[in-house]
Amino acid sequence: MKESYVFNYGENWTLHKKIASNALRTFPKAETKSSTWSCLLEKHVIEEVSELACLLLYIYEIILQHDKDHIQDITDALISACHNKYAVAKITILNDDEIISTVSDLVGAGFEIISTCIYWSFLYLIYYPEIQVKIQEEINGNTGMKSPRFEDRKILPYTEAFINEIFRHTSFLPFTIPHCTTADTTLNGCFIPRKTCTFINMYQVNHEETIWDNPNLLRPERFLNENRELNKNLIEKIFIFGMGIQKCLREKVARNEVFVFITTVLQQLALKKCPVVKLDLTPTYGLVMKPKPYQL
Ligand code: HEM
Repeated sequence: MKESYVFNYGENWTLHKKIASNALRTFPKAETKSSTWSCLLEKHVIEEVSELACLLLYIYEIILQHDKDHIQDITDALISACHNKYAVAKITILNDDEIISTVSDLVGAGFEIISTCIYWSFLYLIYYPEIQVKIQEEINGNTGMKSPRFEDRKILPYTEAFINEIFRHTSFLPFTIPHCTTADTTLNGCFIPRKTCTFINMYQVNHEETIWDNPNLLRPERFLNENRELNKNLIEKIFIFGMGIQKCLREKVARNEVFVFITTVLQQLALKKCPVVKLDLTPTYGLVMKPKPYQL
């Protein structure tokens, strides 16, 4: 891939790289308040490794306790799928170690993105309290105090529209993960040689003026028609789960999770911003764009 990169990144890039490199040099040496750690880097690495070790041990325990007649989670489902395949075709698809890696990949792929999406949603809900009220009215009028279920997505169109508008407006995953062209390719007249690292700019698509009326405005109503029905064609134009064969493996799970999380919280609580604090919607830039820390 290396030979296909263009190295003329310009002054901004050089400055950016210098700042990042300085931060990486000074951060590891920074001292912690507690004497348990020799420096900040040691603290972070040990904490992260402990968390990872706990997760791997947990998955390992599930494998040991697996009961094929009692599927309780994704690890169980994966083991069962492998055992079934073995029983039918005598092919081992994944061994225990590979099952552990697959589960931790799935958790890794989903965990941070969902929490980022929830952080953004809460920030927008306190920034636009009138939208929050509309969602609460919709929940109260349709599900009451019954705890929200995935199937309620069909009866809460405004809430669904809000979640879609969060995906579009924040575009917190601005690019797909990098892919590499396997052959010389021409796309819209642009030649892309084989072995070029490519990203798709999803943020741009989600803010394209020829598709979206006033793209910078947060307006869940854009997805609803006069009968308050969702415009599925427009929703399909939101670009946040990637495309093609490497599209997100769990779009439906993600949509269900975010929906139940938001509706469960808003059914019971009114979220408010701290009176003196000014909210800032600009993201911190990165592969996943996160909101700046805020209080509610
Ligand atoms: C709002 C939440 C989520 C968003 C916006 C999202 C978005 C994405 C994107 C953009 C990709 C890369 C597609 C590409 O490179 O072309 C991806 C890949 C993937 N996602 Fe998600 N994702 C979300 C939640 C989840 C969850 C909850 C899971 C699992 C439980 C998950 C599992 C995966 C996996 C396994 C891949 C890799 C697929 C492959 O390489 O073939 N995602 N996701």
